[in-house]
Amino acid sequence: MTLAGKRILLIIAGGIAAYKSLDLIRRLRERGASVRPIMTRGAQEFITPLAVGALAASHVYIDLFSREDEQDVGHIRLARECDLIVVAPATADLMAKMAHGLADDLASTVLLASDRPILIAPAMNPKMWQKPATQRNRQTLERDGVHFIGPMEGEMAESGERGLGRMAEPLDIATHVEGMLAGPKPLVGLKAVVTSGPTHEPIDPVRYIANRSSGKQGHAIAAALARLGAEVTLVSGPVTLPDPAGLNVVHVERAEEMRDAVLATLPADIAVMVAAVADWRVITSAGQKIKKQPGEAPPPLQLAENPDILKTIGHHELRPRLVVGFAAETEHVEENGKAKLQRKGADLIVANDVSPETGIMGGDRNRVRLITHAGIEAWPDLSKDEVAERLALWIATQVGGSNA
Ligand code: CTP
Repeated sequence: MTLAGKRILLIIAGGIAAYKSLDLIRRLRERGASVRPIMTRGAQEFITPLAVGALAASHVYIDLFSREDEQDVGHIRLARECDLIVVAPATADLMAKMAHGLADDLASTVLLASDRPILIAPAMNPKMWQKPATQRNRQTLERDGVHFIGPMEGEMAESGERGLGRMAEPLDIATHVEGMLAGPKPLVGLKAVVTSGPTHEPIDPVRYIANRSSGKQGHAIAAALARLGAEVTLVSGPVTLPDPAGLNVVHVERAEEMRDAVLATLPADIAVMVAAVADWRVITSAGQKIKKQPGEAPPPLQLAENPDILKTIGHHELRPRLVVGFAAETEHVEENGKAKLQRKGADLIVANDVSPETGIMGGDRNRVRLITHAGIEAWPDLSKDEVAERLALWIATQVGGSNA
């Protein structure tokens, strides 16, 4: 809940990209923000106030001269009772009004009346974006302190033309909002490497050994460290999650590839090894698909132990200042966690109980115990995002030093 308690005033202008604003509302709200929407007349030609209001769980403000709305909040309060104004999509027309201080509808009036930070996500035909008039307006707005995200390169929804003009993706806008509203960034200047997901160990070109790790916890931790300002490399095994914005993602398949990718990031200040690395690889791995042979016994699989990436890092001559491991246990969670702390040369083992009845493996929640040389701290049942958030803050208190 990185935007918990934050109030976003979302201005939706008229453009085909307005449909993406519906998703943006969800993204902002799932991060804990409240969203108050304003729609221009044009926006209502593309999406309905009913849909916007339902997703935002808020009244939708439309009319500058609505007596009810003015009595309810009023455009001056609307302009000021928020932490950030997001304009998405921002049309060429609305940008022009903003640049020239026009105020002839609710959206432009609120923008003129506001003293809050403004983020705009332009979306328009590439030719409109490139027009000298639009570029002059962009420069004026940038000088006035308005923040921009996009437009992005891509194919236009309506004309199929390619070029700069597509609205930034809702997820990236939400991440940008987080960045603008984030508090202090105690990990600025520090490098972190995070592993996440399972590894796949090939048996032949079509079969592999894997495990049930989803990568949710590791990805969330990488994103949380990046939000605190760390320069993060996420080394991810095969997962179905999107790459988090704002960090460097290296995709690998096998444990040995994961180890090489992690070692390539050294020196680093922080290592968080969350991946469920397969303990064994198949040394009889075949170059061609193994066929069934009638009348013969199934082929034997010969296994060899994989490199232990956490242990390698924990004893490396370029050992990061803080080395964090996870311990997936189904019994004796604390004893096994303590033993792992010693054996792997870690500063912290985050131990979780992954017995099937907990639903942690692949699920959205996690209950962890922090095992350090100083003792054990039990955390309550939390979402994986909250665990990530707290862990990133915990890490910052350990390594933040002069940055904290
Ligand atoms: N780990 C690793 N490389 C491996 C195996 C594990 O980096 N080859 C890391 C994991 O990312 C995790 C920690 O080591 O941070 C603990 O992994 P886990 O599988 O729970 O422990 P194991 O060392 O495999 O011990 P055991 O099989 O006895 O539970």
